[in-house]
Amino acid sequence: MIIFSYIAQAYYVFYLCKEIKQSQSNRHNKLMNSMEYRVLGKTGFKVSEVSLGTWQLGSKWGDAFDEQTAQDTLEAAYEQGVNFFDTADIYQNGMSEKSIGKFLKTKKDKIYVVTKCGRKLNPHVAEGYTEENITRFVSESIQNMGVESLDLVLLHCPPTEVYHKPEVFKALDKLKQQGAIRHYGVSVERVDEALAALAYDISAIEIIFNMFRLKPAEELFAKAREANVGIIVRVPLASGLLTGKYTENTAFGKDDHRSFNRNGDFFDKGETFSGIDYLTGIKAAQELKASLGVENLSAKALRYILMFPEVSTVIPGASSPRQIIENAAASSLPPFTNEEMATVQAVYDNNIRRQIHQLW
Ligand SMILES: NC(=O)c1ccc[n+]([C@@H]2O[C@H](COP(=O)([O-])OP(=O)(O)OC[C@H]3O[C@@H](n4cnc5c(N)ncnc54)[C@H](OP(=O)(O)O)[C@@H]3O)[C@@H](O)[C@H]2O)c1
Repeated sequence: MIIFSYIAQAYYVFYLCKEIKQSQSNRHNKLMNSMEYRVLGKTGFKVSEVSLGTWQLGSKWGDAFDEQTAQDTLEAAYEQGVNFFDTADIYQNGMSEKSIGKFLKTKKDKIYVVTKCGRKLNPHVAEGYTEENITRFVSESIQNMGVESLDLVLLHCPPTEVYHKPEVFKALDKLKQQGAIRHYGVSVERVDEALAALAYDISAIEIIFNMFRLKPAEELFAKAREANVGIIVRVPLASGLLTGKYTENTAFGKDDHRSFNRNGDFFDKGETFSGIDYLTGIKAAQELKASLGVENLSAKALRYILMFPEVSTVIPGASSPRQIIENAAASSLPPFTNEEMATVQAVYDNNIRRQIHQLW
């Protein structure tokens, strides 16, 4: 009798665990279902249209790296259906790649990772983009992530000269033939660099495109589509300006590039706040909020980018899991109306175009 009771209890616990697991899996599938996926150019990868940028993974700018925060951040994105992470060998001194590698091992389904190389060069000059250096960088990224090969590697905003050095792209072809990388591409500062890169067998271009940076839609997207090259959109929120939450009194940490690179003193000016003068950006973001009728502009700003079918994925950065959830929701927002599209264009033409359109 006692034995029967033990068996019944054991069966009940087993049944309960199964139910909990099933309901967790249902929840995951439900969340995954609200995320849409797009093909990333000739890689053929089906990637979440809202993904995650991991420049600040595991740390606010300048804080010590925290592995648990990194894993929680990646998990929060995964739970929203994100299957694509953007990283680089220099992010968090390699810790971004290492944490992603660790995270990949906890999941059975395929998660794509794009990493970047070139910025370990010091000085960062075109002559450093040799076959030997690129091969070493790729091998270090493979080691960091503990994978057999890299899904996609991008040259990390190299000097413009590099786009006119076919030997650099031949080195990448060789790594592809050897199986160290599956695909390669470029992360660019400017549209003319992206156009130059289309001369090579690239699979993807990573570029800044957002409500404050419309040039790529005008001059690049159609050509990238013809070449079947995927577009990865970085800095989609203009470093947070397009959330509409900052004011002239907002303070950023002293190690945050939004404090020290506003004028491009440390790296390309176009990266921080998308190259827009901060106060101009605040004013334009307020105009967008008012005319689009939203209090938090983030998801709308991402949805706007997704209106362009050439875009494969946007990779917003996030400083909390809540931001990741809000950003993923962009995938299920209704499309912009023609009127809303015209509003964004007008805000750009009236506030931004003259300041930056010719620069990047
Ligand atoms: N050269 C390159 O290839 C290159 C250069 C730059 C970036 N990237 C890639 O692009 C990714 C994204 O760029 P980014 O992080 O610089 O710029 P971003 O995505 O335009 O802005 C991210 C910032 O916006 C704020 N934010 C995000 N979601 C929010 C939400 N829902 N509500 C309120 N605030 C929100 C956060 O700032 P708070 O601190 O205010 O919370 C966050 O740090 C990077 O992680 C990296 O992977 C590549």
